[in-house]
Amino acid sequence: MRRSFNLQVVDVLLVLALLGSVVVVVGDASSSSSSSSSNSWAASSHCKCKRDNEYVSGEIRPHSVTITEFGAVGDGVTLNTKAFQNAIFYLNSFADKGGAKLFVPAGRWLTGSFDLISHLTLWLDNDAVILGSTSSDDWPVTEPLPSYGRGRELPGGRHRSLIYGRNLTDIIITGDNGTIDGQGSIWWNWFENKTLNYTRPHLVELMNSTGIVISNLTFINSPFWTIHPVYCSHVTVQNVTILAPRESPNTDGIDPDSSDNVCIEDCYISTGDDLVAIKSGWDEYGISYGRPSTNIVIHRLTGETGRGSGIAIGSEMSGGVSEVRAENIQIFNSGTGIGLKTSPGRGGYVRNIYVSNLNLVDVDTAIRFTSHFGEHPDEFYDQTALPLIESITIEEVVGENIKSAGLLVGLQGDTFLNICLSNLTLNVTTSDSPWNCSYIQGFSDSVSPKTCELLKERIYPEHTLDCYHPSNHLWNSISQNRGAQFLSW
Ligand SMILES: *[C@@H]1O[C@H](CO)[C@@H](O)[C@H](O)[C@H]1NC(C)=O
Ligand SMILES: *[C@@H]1O[C@H](CO)[C@@H](O)[C@H](O)[C@H]1NC(C)=O
Ligand SMILES: *[C@@H]1O[C@H](CO)[C@@H](O)[C@H](O)[C@H]1NC(C)=O
Ligand SMILES: *[C@@H]1O[C@H](CO)[C@@H](O)[C@H](O)[C@H]1NC(C)=O
Ligand SMILES: *[C@@H]1O[C@H](CO)[C@@H](O)[C@H](O)[C@H]1NC(C)=O
Ligand SMILES: *[C@@H]1O[C@H](CO)[C@@H](O)[C@H](O)[C@H]1NC(C)=O
Ligand SMILES: *[C@@H]1O[C@H](CO)[C@@H](O)[C@H](O)[C@H]1NC(C)=O
Ligand SMILES: *[C@@H]1O[C@H](CO)[C@@H](O)[C@H](O)[C@H]1NC(C)=O
Ligand SMILES: *[C@@H]1O[C@H](CO)[C@@H](O)[C@H](O)[C@H]1NC(C)=O
Ligand SMILES: *[C@@H]1O[C@H](CO)[C@@H](O)[C@H](O)[C@H]1NC(C)=O
Repeated sequence: MRRSFNLQVVDVLLVLALLGSVVVVVGDASSSSSSSSSNSWAASSHCKCKRDNEYVSGEIRPHSVTITEFGAVGDGVTLNTKAFQNAIFYLNSFADKGGAKLFVPAGRWLTGSFDLISHLTLWLDNDAVILGSTSSDDWPVTEPLPSYGRGRELPGGRHRSLIYGRNLTDIIITGDNGTIDGQGSIWWNWFENKTLNYTRPHLVELMNSTGIVISNLTFINSPFWTIHPVYCSHVTVQNVTILAPRESPNTDGIDPDSSDNVCIEDCYISTGDDLVAIKSGWDEYGISYGRPSTNIVIHRLTGETGRGSGIAIGSEMSGGVSEVRAENIQIFNSGTGIGLKTSPGRGGYVRNIYVSNLNLVDVDTAIRFTSHFGEHPDEFYDQTALPLIESITIEEVVGENIKSAGLLVGLQGDTFLNICLSNLTLNVTTSDSPWNCSYIQGFSDSVSPKTCELLKERIYPEHTLDCYHPSNHLWNSISQNRGAQFLSW
């Protein structure tokens, strides 16, 4: 009975969603949620990042210039910041004429931070290398993000990324596997010997922008997180290689932060920290800014990281993270496969997360939920702001040479709900107790080695609808949001 009712509701919703006439209001005072309209984008069954021509006008720009026309010298020594700035300033006059392309030919183009504009394609030829300056003065200091309240590493501002954009639409960063090299080792030294004055810069940061494609390039040696879309919508990262040494500090690969409709596909990432980390602001600043990351698709990701996770959520998740779908993920030689990091004080929520087809080789901990991550922006965070963690499904996992299957630790008085594991086969080599669970509730089917007591109740058949799955995600996201209501009928 219950099931047929559910299916009818889903069908009705799907029809209304197709007609574009349903508005789902997610109202939940305790978790700073936002409203969202139904979205079929992330639910497309075989996740090809869809080129959204409504936001990105295409690769063919009617106008094109080469960076050398603006006096740039590709000798690896001449500083070309002015050439990049002048070229982009000139191209601004084509923004309302279909946009323009800035071509970077073979050569080593040293530069400081420069700003992109709307309707721009930055195109790097095969042997083109954009090199970040090794002088911190060439990376000006900008204000902290409102959802962080301060720089992530140090109070106050933060160095602006090498390639930066704000308030933009329709931006493409692509080429024939050219390279963007942050020359980050000097920053890692400054970090390690504590001589930084401000938080380290990202290699690419786009802020408050819509319609972004980053593809067919290699990014190496970022000073800090490599690609950071923050307050962005409709972001595609496709077919990129991201590399940084295993021991380099906090060189995350791709960090969608308070951003929605993000698709990451066919990427190879090998860095010192999380390969992909989904974030949404930090403690009281993230809670009050209240912009979630939602509708995030990760498809065909391969890579390795020493101390990080293949895919992480958090630790900054105070604006909420929901509707994440990760499939065909291969992680090897890494600390953690799938990680969730949070802390009392973060508030926010993580819900409706689906991971499927995960292949792990030589990974210390296959799945790790950390609830006492710590690290707070200041002493004014609210210790009682507990994160709401629910509806996380992980299925079709094979692991070889895994040290620990799962460390799943919720919070006392804040149990993580509906954690579902199905069809996991992990070859656990060292641990006597492969699963270590506390303060979590959920279900499992076909898990080897045998799952922990807290998850031992079977999923199928009674709890099928308690477990998040994208095919019933409309039902789940509605039924699990207390106070949800429909405005349209
Ligand atoms: C984002 O950009 C839009 C226009 O592009 C602007 O109106 C808005 O104020 C910007 N918000 C932030 C936080 O920069
Ligand atoms: C972006 O928009 C915000 C809010 O309107 C404004 O304060 C800021 O100056 C804009 N930044 C740029 C680079 O356009
Ligand atoms: C990936 O990028 C390379 C060049 O960087 C290109 O040759 C190849 O066709 C691209 N593959 C896809 C699937 O786009
Ligand atoms: C692009 O270049 C990187 C670094 O040289 C290389 O590892 C990668 O295989 C190349 N990608 C493609 C698609 O050719
Ligand atoms: C810190 O590292 C930088 C960059 O390598 C170096 O120039 C500086 O001398 C170091 N400072 C100290 C105090 O070790
Ligand atoms: C930090 O500030 C000091 C004093 O202004 C300066 O000498 C030093 O180069 C700065 N460090 C970095 C990494 O920019
Ligand atoms: C990547 O390069 C391939 C080969 O040139 C091209 O077919 C594809 O459209 C490019 N992808 C993107 C997203 O630019
Ligand atoms: C379980 O996973 C294995 C390996 O991925 C797969 O071959 C098998 O079909 C799955 N079984 C079920 C019941 O989905
Ligand atoms: C794990 O792999 C090793 C080496 O391949 C094998 O000897 C062992 O039987 C496997 N253990 C399990 C539990 O599958
Ligand atoms: C489980 O994990 C907790 C927290 O990391 C640790 O203190 C405890 O010793 C572990 N228990 C077992 C049986 O491994």
